[in-house]
Amino acid sequence: MNTKIHIDIDRETCIKCGKCVRICPASIFVQETPQSEIALQHIQTCIKCGHCMGVCPTSSVLHSVFPQDKVHPIRRDELPSPEQTMLLIKSRRSNRAFSKKPVPGEMLDQILEAAHRAPTASNMQQVGFTLVTDQQMVQKVIDLTFDIFLGLAKKLQNPFVKPVMKLIIPEAYKYLKHVRHMKEKRDKGGDPILREATTLLLIHTPKDNRFGPADANLAYQNASLMAESLGVSQFYTGFLCVALKLDKKARIPALLGISETIHAGMGLGMPAFSFKNYIDKKEIRVNRI
Ligand SMILES: Cc1cc2nc3c(=O)[nH]c(=O)nc-3n(C[C@H](O)[C@H](O)[C@H](O)COP(=O)(O)O)c2cc1C
Repeated sequence: MNTKIHIDIDRETCIKCGKCVRICPASIFVQETPQSEIALQHIQTCIKCGHCMGVCPTSSVLHSVFPQDKVHPIRRDELPSPEQTMLLIKSRRSNRAFSKKPVPGEMLDQILEAAHRAPTASNMQQVGFTLVTDQQMVQKVIDLTFDIFLGLAKKLQNPFVKPVMKLIIPEAYKYLKHVRHMKEKRDKGGDPILREATTLLLIHTPKDNRFGPADANLAYQNASLMAESLGVSQFYTGFLCVALKLDKKARIPALLGISETIHAGMGLGMPAFSFKNYIDKKEIRVNRI
């Protein structure tokens, strides 16, 4: 429901510094000259980012979406240092060696909150999450993913369609090799899809969200850094995402009751062991212009 937004300024306390004017992406706050009264325009175009609430030094902006209990001070001396942040980034790996221990619920909540705090286009905040911890359901997702890949492999190898398919979708044939490897692993009792992760997190947006993939993957990255700092292992479930795209019948979303487009998936679990070292990456490619 779109409720009407009310924004006002407490004229008694406003010091007319103009920070709200400079920060508002929707240009709702206006000031004719420095130190003149702040005026308000087209309030209903507000994207509810709360920047005005974040910068006002005297808490003089009154915003119906952000009552005082939704505004929190930032104590900058409590933020991680650049060195600590870089170390967290370097330490984050896709640790696929999971133990059987479930991830504590409060850790999953923190991971979800971190994901939810990622930026979204126009501050739409339409990213939704499906957290699967039920082991039978996790197994059903793995089984369905296999069904999708094996079904596709069968179709691609059909001698009647192969010559045409190779011309139309040559890239699909690259997946055949992966499917073969996955099947071999699975036949030996392994789990090449979720790699024995105990939890699956799917990240989705409404179908008409044009920035859905970007929004979801930014949420993913926030979640993965939070997971690392909590000592929870995670990896990006790319094969599952491919299967989701391939399956026109949308069986996995149907199984999980998801009607939105799933853009990203994260396999999560407690680590069997953690990484002792981080390694260097390839040389960075940068054009400095
Ligand atoms: C889009 C994407 C898809 C991925 N798909 C899978 C996957 O299906 N299975 C898997 O084990 N790892 C997957 N990964 C993890 C990458 O293999 C991993 O990020 C890469 O090897 C670098 O390792 P690091 O994350 O430990 O730095 C994927 C990563 C990305 C970004």
